[in-house]
Amino acid sequence: MKIGLFYGSETGNTEMNVKRVQDGLNAKFPDLVELHDIRKVPASKLTEYKKLIVGCPTWNVGELQSDWADKYEDLDEVNLAGIQVAMLGVGDQSGYPNNFCDAIGLLGLKFEERGAELVAFTDASPYDFDESMGADDGMFLGLALDEDNEPDKSEDRIAEWIEILTEDFALG
Ligand SMILES: Cc1cc2nc3c(=O)[nH]c(=O)nc-3n(C[C@H](O)[C@H](O)[C@H](O)COP(=O)(O)O)c2cc1C
Repeated sequence: MKIGLFYGSETGNTEMNVKRVQDGLNAKFPDLVELHDIRKVPASKLTEYKKLIVGCPTWNVGELQSDWADKYEDLDEVNLAGIQVAMLGVGDQSGYPNNFCDAIGLLGLKFEERGAELVAFTDASPYDFDESMGADDGMFLGLALDEDNEPDKSEDRIAEWIEILTEDFALG
């Protein structure tokens, strides 16, 4: 069963990192992950998969990236019951410490509202921020990356997340 990886990206940071996730998973499980730029596909495409990875940076102080913002209302028309979703957020913890990776929560909770189960949470304690809609009880509701301040950590964070995805998606 394929995994659909849907992303939006303004300046390329999320695009670069979702491709790392795709490459990492496909190295373990050939051809598993199919990549889609959400700008180019309808929201209904999400329902073609039982397992989703969703990449979204946070923009304009606590808002969704523009392509996800454009699709946000369409999500009310899709039924995501029985679908597992792993959220990948990209943000700037120093520049926006009160809104770090808010999009993980903004979008993730919308997916949950539509019936999806969020998986592949990660420890938020190694990061330095004050508030995030994407974190609950010390855990991000997915993976947070910071290309502005910690670009050298992204590859290791993704490698660790791939282990978590393998378990939570029961891929092994
Ligand atoms: C005007 C502006 C607003 C931003 N707002 C936030 C924010 O609220 N929270 C956050 O974590 N990052 C914020 N960022 C940082 C971006 O999310 C970050 O640079 C990210 O890597 C961009 O990803 P992309 O290249 O995939 O679009 C903001 C950046 C800019 C320039």
